Amino acid sequence: MPRLIQLEEASSTNDIAKELARSGAEHGTAVLAARQTSGRGRMGRSFCSPEGGLYLSVVLRPQITPDLLPLCTPLAAVAVCRALSSETGVECRIKWVNDLLLNGGKLCGILCEGVSGAVVCGIGVNLRAPKGGFPSDIRDLVAVMPKETDRTMLAQAIIRELLSLCGRLPDTAFLEEYRARSAVLGQTVTVRDPAGDYEAHASAIDEHGGLTVALPDGTFKTLRAGEISVRLKTQE
Ligand code: BTN
Repeated sequence: MPRLIQLEEASSTNDIAKELARSGAEHGTAVLAARQTSGRGRMGRSFCSPEGGLYLSVVLRPQITPDLLPLCTPLAAVAVCRALSSETGVECRIKWVNDLLLNGGKLCGILCEGVSGAVVCGIGVNLRAPKGGFPSDIRDLVAVMPKETDRTMLAQAIIRELLSLCGRLPDTAFLEEYRARSAVLGQTVTVRDPAGDYEAHASAIDEHGGLTVALPDGTFKTLRAGEISVRLKTQE
């Protein structure tokens, strides 16, 4: 069984796991913290990481060609959904590409980063609200677990599911579950693109985890995660 390092506080568990990966840490090595002081999200954003959450980073060494690496984020989303379902009965929807939603609020964010031939898969779950509540700018956007949840138990279940799905790559059967849990398919979304935001209809998720959208002029475009995110009309 690979190592699970448990910390009360970390700057960013992804940064620690990346350092471990650089030093050759084995597939499945994981870092779990109860709070982070410099939690990071996608697109250079910070990730609010107060006491009371689950902050987990897992070193993965998937046996796949580099073009398939973008699959790690949807794979992790499905792994966390499965762990939440089996350990707590909570069923999440997935907002492309890396957010898990519960009752429309963000319960979990995922940040996968490549390092020295490995992938560090970072997962943050809001287990409960911190004392004094979440900061006002995100208070209405986040969700927390409906009942007390054991951090270590949930983390171990997530790691098991991650390793199991990762071990089956390049089999992408998990994408069926990703699609079935999608909160965006069939919805009108606002695409946040550095070149300018636009509205589109989310119509499919392809075999690489890309989101195909229909544009108002009838053409289709497939979005790759990178610098692009989508916003559901219901979240505006
Ligand atoms: C996002 O919502 O944009 C992704 C958030 C990812 C947060 C997790 S918490 C554990 C790991 N450590 C970090 O600094 N980030 C990830």
